[in-house]
Amino acid sequence: MGIRNIRTEGDEILRKKSKPVKNVSIRTRMLIRDMFDTMYEADGVGLAAPQVGILRRIVVIDCDGEHPYALINPEILETRGLQTGYEGCLSVPGKSAIVTRPDYVKVKALDENGEEYILEGTELLARAILHETEHLDGILYVDKTDGPLVDNAELAGMTEDQKEDALEKAVELHEADYEAHAAENEEIEKMEEAETENEESGKPDGSSEQN
Ligand code: NI
Repeated sequence: MGIRNIRTEGDEILRKKSKPVKNVSIRTRMLIRDMFDTMYEADGVGLAAPQVGILRRIVVIDCDGEHPYALINPEILETRGLQTGYEGCLSVPGKSAIVTRPDYVKVKALDENGEEYILEGTELLARAILHETEHLDGILYVDKTDGPLVDNAELAGMTEDQKEDALEKAVELHEADYEAHAAENEEIEKMEEAETENEESGKPDGSSEQN
């Protein structure tokens, strides 16, 4: 296992812009393997290369422990809808905050074999793709929160009602945006319902999670 040291907020490398990967080499694949090891070891769902001190446009994501994605030179093609939720970052350990982001994203990238592919994601996967690709441009989620950073211990101690209230307040901040994205959010919701039904009936879902 290649566990790398995770840089934390305050380390200036996290604020630098990463460079594109010119060719996907054995070294790139070794880095990606180490990034997955490091992410799983830290119980994260995503990690970007600058977080381990490498200024290259590479991110790894696995939101459910079953769908690992490596995205090299990721390029966001489309975003739709809006979601508001708690978010954290391995470079800001032990903290979370509310962030409002698109609820659907379509991204183009190279995989670890240098093959181009398209990945679509909603909800947590969309959030992770956007959060991780922002790392490549030196952007941290703490730059765009809807409220204060909270300790994860404090968050774990909050009741569901308290969390709902905090989320509702954040949604109110984006009221106009939510109105503008209402139709898109409805579409995304229908998409998710259809996927859940397909999963339940065991049919192939024909959705985006291919790799
Ligand atoms: Ni992060």
